[in-house]
Amino acid sequence: MTPPVSAVRRLGVLTGGGDCPGLNPVIRAVTRKAIQVGLSVIGIRNGWKGLIEGDTVLLDLQSVSGILPKGGTILGTSRTNPYKRPEDLTRLRETVKRLQLDALIAIGGEDTLGVATKLAREGLKIVGVPKTIDNDLSMTDFTFGFDTAVNIATEAIDRLHTTAESHHRIMVAEVMGRHAGWIATYAGIAGGADVILIPEEPIDIEQVCEIIKQRHARGKDFSIIVVAEGARFKHGTNAVVEEKLDEFGHVRLGGIGHALGNLIEQRTGYETRVTVLGHLQRGGSPTAFDRVLGTRFGVKAVELVVEGQFGYMVSLQGNRIVGVPIEQGTGTLKTVDMDLYRIAKIFFG
Ligand code: F6P
Repeated sequence: MTPPVSAVRRLGVLTGGGDCPGLNPVIRAVTRKAIQVGLSVIGIRNGWKGLIEGDTVLLDLQSVSGILPKGGTILGTSRTNPYKRPEDLTRLRETVKRLQLDALIAIGGEDTLGVATKLAREGLKIVGVPKTIDNDLSMTDFTFGFDTAVNIATEAIDRLHTTAESHHRIMVAEVMGRHAGWIATYAGIAGGADVILIPEEPIDIEQVCEIIKQRHARGKDFSIIVVAEGARFKHGTNAVVEEKLDEFGHVRLGGIGHALGNLIEQRTGYETRVTVLGHLQRGGSPTAFDRVLGTRFGVKAVELVVEGQFGYMVSLQGNRIVGVPIEQGTGTLKTVDMDLYRIAKIFFG
């Protein structure tokens, strides 16, 4: 057994924000690697909430056995923001002290890692692991969970194709993607969508209808339109299910698919149906790619802890896993590569 280089003996690990396929492979890898280098691992339940409430569980070889192919997170998650209430922050710091946590690995997206950045500035020893199906965190080529979501959405588009063709209908598929249209672009290309609409470019409804009409004119009397939940019409605002903000200031998006479907049917006269994939994209077993990426992220996160690289997060750059300052990952969102979107556009219509 290699003795730890840093003074860390007890390592906490938590998962925060929306769940994502691949979280369990990270938890497993963190635990296995930490045990290999002589650390004990404390799992914190339900993200920052568990650290505020002191809700924890010891992680050992037994507790992470068999979780590699499991979706979700065995630790649970929440969207609790400890910076919302000063008393929560005090309780969080007390828990860290009482549990004698020398360091913490926070697995999460922009919100969870945003909190991690602030806590790291206050002196907490934190290493981040970027997570989101949306793939919109900077400084990492991919986040785990994205590949699984893209595969689910692609299969859905394949299935919509056959029923669209039988009924001569327009099928609108709404996929996730709050600020960035990565899932829509990848699944749209992979599934052969006739139009892909993303938050990065306002929807031009006339152009969408024109593309559909042109397809009809050349004998294609069905079309598949993929739209990201965060896409909006020119001069429009986001379609939301609920205006209420969560603790990080986000509304619940949803509804753009139906708004779009209604307009398409009104303007073209073609029968249109809408499918909202929603949380199907977040549930279930991770793909092999996400299991491998999660495993590599988990191992590297423990290595950063051992090296004392706090305030850093793991990231995929090319085929290498490296450490970068957490705030560089969360500072600006990684929107869709427009060269890729231009490739997608070649196949519109
Ligand atoms: O950030 C990941 C994500 O899946 C977004 O694509 C989506 O807008 C949001 O989370 C949904 O969150 P919730 O699970 O709270 O409905």
